[in-house]
Amino acid sequence: DGVVRVGLLGCGTVGSQVVRLLREHGDDWAARSGAHLELVGIAVRDTAAERDPWVPRDLLTDDAEGLVGRADVVIELIGGIEPARTLVLRALRSGATVVTGNKALLAAHGPELHAAAEAGDADLYYEAAVAGAVPVVYGLRESLAGDKITAVLGIVNGTTNYILDEMATRGLSFDQALSQAQELGYAEADPTADVDGHDAAAKAAILASLAFHTRVGIDDVPVTGIRHITAEDMAEARETGHVMKLLAVARRTVSGGTEGISVRVHPALVPAAHPLAAVHGAFNAVVVESESAGRLMFYGQGAGGAPTASAVLSDVVAAANHKVHGGHAPRESTYAELPLHGPDAT
Ligand code: HSE
Repeated sequence: DGVVRVGLLGCGTVGSQVVRLLREHGDDWAARSGAHLELVGIAVRDTAAERDPWVPRDLLTDDAEGLVGRADVVIELIGGIEPARTLVLRALRSGATVVTGNKALLAAHGPELHAAAEAGDADLYYEAAVAGAVPVVYGLRESLAGDKITAVLGIVNGTTNYILDEMATRGLSFDQALSQAQELGYAEADPTADVDGHDAAAKAAILASLAFHTRVGIDDVPVTGIRHITAEDMAEARETGHVMKLLAVARRTVSGGTEGISVRVHPALVPAAHPLAAVHGAFNAVVVESESAGRLMFYGQGAGGAPTASAVLSDVVAAANHKVHGGHAPRESTYAELPLHGPDAT
């Protein structure tokens, strides 16, 4: 029976839930994947810091590099670019599978990561990087592999949706709603990434790359955040039958007779009867439009420890399955070269 050694990098809100779920349900996943998942280490910056009671102290280490060297599957939940980038590249080049929730890293260095995976004959999974528990990466990469996607749009940041929702429904100020979101563990360590739209832009870049088989990086995505939105804006939206939502929009476009794509993040007035208007709290929803399937909607919890850990663990089970039975995650094909069009393209 195969043993798959799992190394966890980072033990914050999501990482801690990954540890808990591995301990509680490891036997189930062994049965599902045919692999015994052995957590061999948890790399953290401060091994003396207080942890949730289920986190085994004897697995804590501050030697992330050493841990990468002895894991078959590396779960990267450090976030940010460095040291995550160096560790992930090293893992992939050595043939370890990487499961990451790091949207910033993917959106800034996607091509480099995919090349490293290719070089190491390794797999890179990132369901947790976009819309938390919502299986939209799987949906685009696998479920819709036989279709032509024309648009992907939706609410992909739980913190800003929570803030806008609290402002709209309970009349809270932006600052009050933001502190609540932080207390609930939805916000990034630095909430600027949430409220100024950069987190959503990273996710938009990842979704557009997947949907259109092209490479879109975060710098390609024009962004407007929600910091400037006031209680008056909210009231005005309501009076005209709308709800204010921060939307990530990626669509195929034609401009000057040339096919291309447009990818943007901005607050938008959504008609109250539209399904996206009914997305409350930290929930996310992604609408996908495709040539044959038509319109699909993916909906669920887009932030928070346990929901995001669920996405991480689905990738870990898939990775373990491949480690034991062979095979690979689907290779990402980026054969299309589509120019980026501005907002006036149709
Ligand atoms: N801060 C992010 C959000 C977490 O609010 O959606 C999930 O990426």
